[in-house]
Amino acid sequence: MHPLSFFLLLALVHIAAAVTVYGQVPFRESTITSSAIPANNTAHATYDPKNLNPPSLPSLLSTQFSISLGVTNATQIGLSMPVPGSFYGFSVEISLIQVPFLNLMSLLKARGGGVQIRVGGNTQDTATMVSSLPNGTILAKGLINKGVNTQTPALQISPELIFMMNNISSLLGDALKWYLGVPMNDTSNPRLQIAEYGQKILGSNLLGLQIGNEPDLYGAHRLGGRSNNYTTKDYFTEFGQMMAAINRDAEIPVKNQIVGPSVTGGAKEWSTDEIFSTGYLQAYASNLGYIAVERYPDNNCAALYSNASTNYQALFQNYTTHASGLNLVSHFLDTAVVARTAGKPLLMFETNTASCGGFPGISDTYGAALWGIDYGLTMAAVGFSGALLHVSGSNVYYNPFTPPPTNQSAHRQWTISPIFYANLIMAEALGPSNTAQVVDLQANNFNNHTPAYAIYENGIPARVALFNYLTDPSGANTYTASIGISGGPGVGQVKVKYLTASSVAQKDNISWAGQNFGSVFESDGRLQGDVSVQTVPCSNNICQIRVPAPGFALVSFIDTAFTDIDSSPSAIPTYSTTAKGWHSKTMPTVNPTILATSNGHGGPYGKIARGSTSELSAGASRNAVVGPWLAAIGAAVFGAIVVGHRTII
Ligand SMILES: *[C@@H]1O[C@H](CO)[C@@H](O)[C@H](O)[C@H]1NC(C)=O
Ligand SMILES: *[C@@H]1O[C@H](CO)[C@@H](O)[C@H](O)[C@H]1NC(C)=O
Ligand SMILES: *[C@@H]1O[C@H](CO)[C@@H](O)[C@H](O)[C@H]1NC(C)=O
Ligand SMILES: *[C@@H]1O[C@H](CO)[C@@H](O)[C@H](O)[C@H]1NC(C)=O
Ligand SMILES: *[C@@H]1O[C@H](CO)[C@@H](O)[C@H](O)[C@H]1NC(C)=O
Ligand SMILES: *[C@@H]1O[C@H](CO)[C@@H](O)[C@H](O)[C@H]1NC(C)=O
Ligand SMILES: *[C@@H]1O[C@H](CO)[C@@H](O)[C@H](O)[C@H]1NC(C)=O
Ligand SMILES: *[C@@H]1O[C@H](CO)[C@@H](O)[C@H](O)[C@H]1NC(C)=O
Ligand SMILES: *[C@@H]1O[C@H](CO)[C@@H](O)[C@H](O)[C@H]1NC(C)=O
Ligand SMILES: *[C@@H]1O[C@H](CO)[C@@H](O)[C@H](O)[C@H]1NC(C)=O
Repeated sequence: MHPLSFFLLLALVHIAAAVTVYGQVPFRESTITSSAIPANNTAHATYDPKNLNPPSLPSLLSTQFSISLGVTNATQIGLSMPVPGSFYGFSVEISLIQVPFLNLMSLLKARGGGVQIRVGGNTQDTATMVSSLPNGTILAKGLINKGVNTQTPALQISPELIFMMNNISSLLGDALKWYLGVPMNDTSNPRLQIAEYGQKILGSNLLGLQIGNEPDLYGAHRLGGRSNNYTTKDYFTEFGQMMAAINRDAEIPVKNQIVGPSVTGGAKEWSTDEIFSTGYLQAYASNLGYIAVERYPDNNCAALYSNASTNYQALFQNYTTHASGLNLVSHFLDTAVVARTAGKPLLMFETNTASCGGFPGISDTYGAALWGIDYGLTMAAVGFSGALLHVSGSNVYYNPFTPPPTNQSAHRQWTISPIFYANLIMAEALGPSNTAQVVDLQANNFNNHTPAYAIYENGIPARVALFNYLTDPSGANTYTASIGISGGPGVGQVKVKYLTASSVAQKDNISWAGQNFGSVFESDGRLQGDVSVQTVPCSNNICQIRVPAPGFALVSFIDTAFTDIDSSPSAIPTYSTTAKGWHSKTMPTVNPTILATSNGHGGPYGKIARGSTSELSAGASRNAVVGPWLAAIGAAVFGAIVVGHRTII
């Protein structure tokens, strides 16, 4: 059994190509026509058609309820502090930066004003930056570090990687910002080159430097030769050694953008409270820019690593309730208060539906999209300032987006999975003003299946988000929310956008306001189809909004580029792909042998896979899981991309 290889790091492979070609081949439209039926040559999780049944219906909902909003944020109780539209970002251990990626990021930027991405994970702790690698390689794998139980190979990174990250930011008008992982496996001899190059190359596109990753697991994993009695006090001391080294290092001019402590906070691991009680926040106040935690609601490690049979059907209901997100954040409510008092943003630095690859038939469904939006809004409502959904290879079920396997990249495009709508809709719900304040309305008597939130912008009600987690084609569980603003000037009409599907178990044909990303292998990262926004008239200041089962509605009280299809929304630059070959000898490459998988770390309750660590079993497991992903990386290295440029809605 292989306890997760936790590979980190970007292979921002294609950006140099994109940058070069951008501007040379303008207005080249897509010439890919996806093959009618994808052949069954992809056993990857991303293309697994496994379908579950929607969880059984609870007793009938109350299908009529009222929501009354305060006219300003002074009269509405329970609002969060302001959060940015870039709230929901990504945590990337390995990523493929191709044209579809840029398009997806453009969609988020246009809605939320920006995107935040973290590059890091377990391998950051044994990573080393070298001045260059042969043949333009940006990442290389070293030897398996015998001192580490996770069998994580040491990584070598060339500065070219960070140049490419900055190239990506630059392509997106510097709206895409980064967090970088910095190793802390050896605090007597800290390797700070990633921080040095990061600040020098990325400048203001660097949001933060994460020092160490999940230190509550260092003892269990014997990372850096630590013993299993590694304590919060040891961590406090070692973190201090890192801060002292950073404070001495003239090549790291910005001292106060450190991210820590990045613990999982599992029941058997350290809580943030235990770390804070060491005096951590006070001692390192001048360095800490952010407080971070990393947690998933569940894990699929047993199935992934020991073929344990798992009743996924029984698990599905854990994701189709409001309680799911509430349970997850309940571990961090104290932390949110402490962080706010300390004036530090609290970030959920790595999360998704389940670590160890997610759950088939759950992580890749409409239900997961609803869960993702609900969980995101819950985090915002209770005091988080951002959250990063983990992205991995095609061997996981929870990816928001996945490129095609290597040898199919010439005739197939990307697969955008339902949970990407959580990023898209969170960005739209919060908007770009950085003034969004979120409140959980405890709607319908705090019904677990019909949560609702209000989002205020600039102090006034901007939007209401309404969920229906039930699946009932009969219509008996379709509800109507009657929304009013108490003491307001009166609302004539509202604009409503729906995220549609006929079942929470559905994987395909999910649409956001009439648009979607197509089915598997069908996306170049742009929304397809015509926008459809409903206008709902209100009477006596009450707006009645129907939400089908299942359903999600975003109700807008204010007009923006995204609520009004008649006005010309601000143009979103996007890029199109073609299947024409494009190769460059000078293009940076990634040695594919390093690109093993990350299945997402941080299972709860100490259930991290920690079994056998023999190299044989580790290797076997890794090969089994990783094979397809290697293929996918190849697509980035050798795939064909021509960048065009046009604007669409
Ligand atoms: C793919 O495999 C599934 C399960 O074996 C089968 O039902 C389906 O028809 C296959 N699809 C194609 C296109 O061959
Ligand atoms: C560099 O690339 C050339 C040509 O592909 C190859 O022959 C050589 O072995 C590579 N060198 C290294 C160190 O990978
Ligand atoms: C893009 O990357 C190249 C190196 O690959 C670097 O020379 C250049 O400065 C980068 N451009 C930006 C805007 O970061
Ligand atoms: C830390 O990681 C580096 C790079 O992988 C390795 O050379 C070094 O031996 C490690 N140090 C410890 C104490 O494990
Ligand atoms: C922790 O374990 C190591 C090695 O097993 C031992 O040398 C050390 O004294 C222990 N430390 C504490 C505080 O118990
Ligand atoms: C899991 O099952 C597959 C297919 O039956 C088998 O090849 C593999 O060895 C099993 N892995 C473990 C860890 O039992
Ligand atoms: C998920 O569902 C299973 C089966 O219904 C239940 O036993 C388990 O406690 C649930 N887990 C969580 C985290 O809610
Ligand atoms: C792509 O590669 C896979 C795995 O090597 C192979 O099974 C499949 O047939 C290949 N597909 C094509 C279209 O070449
Ligand atoms: C209300 O919103 C305004 C504008 O965003 C903000 O300046 C103010 O602090 C907010 N007040 C409260 C009580 O949240
Ligand atoms: C896709 O969804 C739309 C409405 O959301 C529905 O009208 C259409 O029949 C669905 N198509 C398929 C193939 O299920």
